[in-house]
Amino acid sequence: MQTDIRILAIETSCDDTSCAVLRNRAVLSNVVSSQWIHRKYGGVVPELAGRDHLRYIIPVADEALKTAGIKPAELSAVAVTRGPGLPGSLQVGVNAAKSFSLAWNIPLIAVHHMRAHILSLFIEKDGQQAPDFPFICLTVSGGHTQLVLVKNPYDFTLIGKTRDDAVGEAFDKAAKLLGLPYPGGPFIDQLAVVGDENKFQFSPYHGKALDFSFSGIKTSFLYFLQENNRKNPDFIKENLPDICASYQRHLIQELLKVTLRALSQYGIKNLAVTGGVSANSKLRSEFGKLEGEGIKVSFPLREFCTDNAAMIGVAAYFDFLEKKFSGPELAPLSRWNEFT
Ligand code: KG4
Ligand code: ZN
Repeated sequence: MQTDIRILAIETSCDDTSCAVLRNRAVLSNVVSSQWIHRKYGGVVPELAGRDHLRYIIPVADEALKTAGIKPAELSAVAVTRGPGLPGSLQVGVNAAKSFSLAWNIPLIAVHHMRAHILSLFIEKDGQQAPDFPFICLTVSGGHTQLVLVKNPYDFTLIGKTRDDAVGEAFDKAAKLLGLPYPGGPFIDQLAVVGDENKFQFSPYHGKALDFSFSGIKTSFLYFLQENNRKNPDFIKENLPDICASYQRHLIQELLKVTLRALSQYGIKNLAVTGGVSANSKLRSEFGKLEGEGIKVSFPLREFCTDNAAMIGVAAYFDFLEKKFSGPELAPLSRWNEFT
């Protein structure tokens, strides 16, 4: 088996232009250029995202190679996010990867973005411990909230998901109502640290299966703010940390409730949490408490929680071992539901 696999990985599924170089599962470079232009619109504008990827993809790839000290001739393969994601954004990455593959005569690897979020747990850095198989992975991001049973790096089964909004959206939309910048999740996280999480109550979603739902809470949060603002126009200003902490507690309790149901249903004691929202400090401490109940809990390093190309590279490393390559006809799949 080849033991020195060098992969240039590209991620452009949403609003981060990212390129990384990996040597096997170790990250030699991981450059992430976040598009701040969306801040003034309070959300990602697809048309602007595609244009910005086009502007930055080559400079970002160049920087990733230079930082890693790797020349194109030393690469074993180029990998790219094929989907799911915004069509115009995915196209830029896929096109760049196909061009590199043809120009440098190296294999092309197409990666599923959600599988890569899960495999970010297998990036080798700072003695990070990967979970043992089989494990259940809760992936919480801006676009997805899902539970996946992972038997090995190639065997993924979707066992639960949100019926409506993703939990990252629930963070970001509430943050917008509170006048916080986009994306608001990290701001709620920080403000909640000094807030009273029991000050305000929100009613839970009463699902029974392995489904999440966050659209109801979003609407009730809007009414909660409107009603309190009517009584006191300074309500948000006077209570911001408490509002953030109470709302965040509600979201995390919803995630915990359904995840515990999945673990008991499948009789599994290994749990992982990945995706942008897994960077949340309260989520980490609440899920971390499960260790006391005999459940082993893993998180990716914080730098690999939100979108990044290093996770695409580690997923591609496993595909390289199995020679799962794509041809030059590769096209993006903006709605790619299966983990193939
Ligand atoms: O995985 P990701 O970068 O992109 C998608 O694939 O969607 O996730 C982005 C999401 C955003 O909703 C952002 O607000 C949320 O992750 N996020 C957080 C935190 N850091 C990022 N949410 C709560 N607390 C955080 N610390
Ligand atoms: Zn993502």
